[in-house]
Amino acid sequence: MPGPPESVRGVCASDRLPLMENYAHLLATDGVVRGLIGPREVPRLWDRHIANSAILTTVLEKSITVCDVGTGAGLPGLVIAIARPDLQVTLVEPLLRRTTFLDEVVALLELDNVEVLRGRADAFHGERSFDVVTSRAVAPLERLLEWSMPLVAPHGQLLALKGSSITEEIETARPVLTKYGCSEPEVIELGAGILESPTMALRVSWADPSALPLHLIGGSSASPSRASKAKRKPRRR
Ligand SMILES: C[S@@+](CC[C@H](N)C(=O)[O-])C[C@H]1O[C@@H](n2cnc3c(N)ncnc32)[C@H](O)[C@@H]1O
Repeated sequence: MPGPPESVRGVCASDRLPLMENYAHLLATDGVVRGLIGPREVPRLWDRHIANSAILTTVLEKSITVCDVGTGAGLPGLVIAIARPDLQVTLVEPLLRRTTFLDEVVALLELDNVEVLRGRADAFHGERSFDVVTSRAVAPLERLLEWSMPLVAPHGQLLALKGSSITEEIETARPVLTKYGCSEPEVIELGAGILESPTMALRVSWADPSALPLHLIGGSSASPSRASKAKRKPRRR
């Protein structure tokens, strides 16, 4: 396995680079054996998955809380947490097989800025809120808004890595954007001159943070165990 490319070195805290290499190694070995990453992804693990995730850190302010919805094997959430020890990162994932892997990686790398929550995103609505809610390859924008916006703090934002269909997705999601009182989505290009090919992300905030319905303003103090216990059990796989 080659070492981290310049695109990752440039955004990762230098003392955390060995942890990033460790994580890449775990993805390429255990991650493949457990079916979390396809074997064909291994040669492009750094560029397509880790660098693509790490680039999100360039638009994250210092010392904020981040929630990664549908994190799977930790993309982009775990990469963000490794690269930026100043951030508190919560990984939300319903499937046991994946949260088991995440729990193991967090323990092995001794990451003290990561929390793993097993459950669907909507299981934490009204209980938790975050400065930024990220996602990658989780759902079409309409559904992503429904799952993610109730987790966004009044002055926070959703930040979703998206593909080339981003403009059409925004148009399809107009009714949901209106229903939730979202701001006009902002399409941002990340990684120009850093990544092999720049990636697109979508930023959505609240149009009027002072007008949020109470049920959308989640507390941030609910403990993971209380939040998980209180909600329905997710499907096992
Ligand atoms: C295609 S995978 C993407 C995983 C990862 N973000 C990545 O880029 O590799 C989609 C993930 O979303 C999770 N997921 C599906 N429905 C969800 C929901 N309602 N809330 C949170 N996560 C969900 C799935 O279990 C799966 O791990």
